[in-house]
Amino acid sequence: MELVFATHNRHKLQEAVAIAGASFVVKGLDELGCFEEIPETADSLMGNAFQKADYVHKKYNVNCFSDDTGLEIEALDGRPGVYSARYAGENCSFQDNVRKVMSELQGIENRNACFKTVVALILDNQTYYFEGRVDGEIITEERGTAGFGYDPIFRPLGFNQTFAEMGEADKNTVSHRGRAMQKLMDFLKNKVNIL
Ligand code: IMP
Repeated sequence: MELVFATHNRHKLQEAVAIAGASFVVKGLDELGCFEEIPETADSLMGNAFQKADYVHKKYNVNCFSDDTGLEIEALDGRPGVYSARYAGENCSFQDNVRKVMSELQGIENRNACFKTVVALILDNQTYYFEGRVDGEIITEERGTAGFGYDPIFRPLGFNQTFAEMGEADKNTVSHRGRAMQKLMDFLKNKVNIL
């Protein structure tokens, strides 16, 4: 089975391809010839995940899925949350967002945080949702060079390394996206078996 992942983020695509393994072919938007920005204007992870998948499904008539992810920090009342991508402003970089979080948390002891992902799948005109969450903390300095986004400052509970120190394979086994994607893959395998 072939599925399109409605994302331009090469890190996300790489993670999804690794999780899918040999069972499913996962293609990104570039391979579909889609280079435009996909609208993402909802005020919830579920809303954004649906919006991105729905846009690609309608425009290209393909089975596809999308994910939307937010970093929720306890001491910041759940911010940046659904606004994680543009936390430091329009057209900001990953580094700008990390800097903003670090400066807001300066001097604050409670560093508890979690990543949440919602995956929306549109398959044969039906929509399905899969969620993943990982708890952890925001450390006090950036560590590691792998991954993207807030990876260098997020250390998952029970681990000494940040996501950026762990590398993709280990990150996938515990991450928010890894967990949501695994649920998606289990669902698809089950679906293929009963057809
Ligand atoms: P998106 O809207 O799902 O693309 O994600 C919003 C933002 O959250 C991204 O721009 C990244 O800054 C951040 N983000 C998403 N997934 C991850 C991750 O796995 N690790 C670190 N940051 C992430």
